[in-house]
Amino acid sequence: MENVSYQKTGNTALITLHKQDTMNALCKSLIADINAGLDQAEADAEIYTIVITGYGKAFIAGADIDEMYGKSPSEIWDWSALGSSLNLRLEKMPCPVIAAINGYALGGGLELAMACDIRIASGNAKLGLPEAGLGVICGAGGTQRLPHIVGEGIAKEMIFTGKTIDAEEAYRIGLVNRVVSPDALLEEAFALANSINQNGQLAVRAAKEAVRFARNAGIEDGCILERQKFSALFETEDQKTGMGGFLRKEKNIVFKNR
Ligand code: HXC
Repeated sequence: MENVSYQKTGNTALITLHKQDTMNALCKSLIADINAGLDQAEADAEIYTIVITGYGKAFIAGADIDEMYGKSPSEIWDWSALGSSLNLRLEKMPCPVIAAINGYALGGGLELAMACDIRIASGNAKLGLPEAGLGVICGAGGTQRLPHIVGEGIAKEMIFTGKTIDAEEAYRIGLVNRVVSPDALLEEAFALANSINQNGQLAVRAAKEAVRFARNAGIEDGCILERQKFSALFETEDQKTGMGGFLRKEKNIVFKNR
């Protein structure tokens, strides 16, 4: 993991990209390093949440234009599968993933952030999908995820113009959940992660899967899946701990996640 550092704090894994020569532009090796970080988090039963951020001026300034430039359509088909698969993996990770957007999140960088469950931005973040200005379009799910997050009209404007927006506008359109000062970004990301970590993790993971299912399912199938998960949780110790704790008026409920 040459260009990614991995740090475990409590029940949260922090994955920091630090390929500063290209502003964390996504190249084959950086994508492999991010996957290695996710492998490490996934293999550790004590990890309940993941925070992804970038070191320096950029979260991720897009896919690596140098690496993409000379490729043929079939080569870029295979190459873009790496980014696309990484983003699908993030979406399917059992635990919640928080993108802490510290600076530029452009093209493939915003695509990756959109595959995370929650995005928070520092006040100096800049977000956009500038691909049309390079004569191409998104290749890792941007056209599919952005309309889902901000609505089709705003998504089309961002994609067709390639315009970069600032953190406040990203907040206004619902692309990020909140904006904080650059110094407070990681602190805020960890506070958010900790408030998730304190809940029953079987429940949090079931909820993540149910919300993801809603993307492709009709309301009836979605409600059935939700009810199945809801019912299954009544077999867990966590449900007895959580509901029993409420009934006994306990203050600090500690889940065992089983
Ligand atoms: C390769 C990149 C890069 C990128 C920055 N760099 N972004 N290299 N691919 N996406 C490199 C620059 O070439 C430069 O290298 C160094 O990082 C610093 O960048 P500067 O441009 O000098 O910095 P600055 O003036 O501050 O401008 C920052 C920036 C700009 C606004 C982020 O670099 C920029 O516009 N980058 C490209 C953004 C972009 O178009 N992304 C979308 C890519 S397409 P040197 O060697 O000169 O110091 C995409 C498709 C996704 O993402 C497909 C997924 C499968």
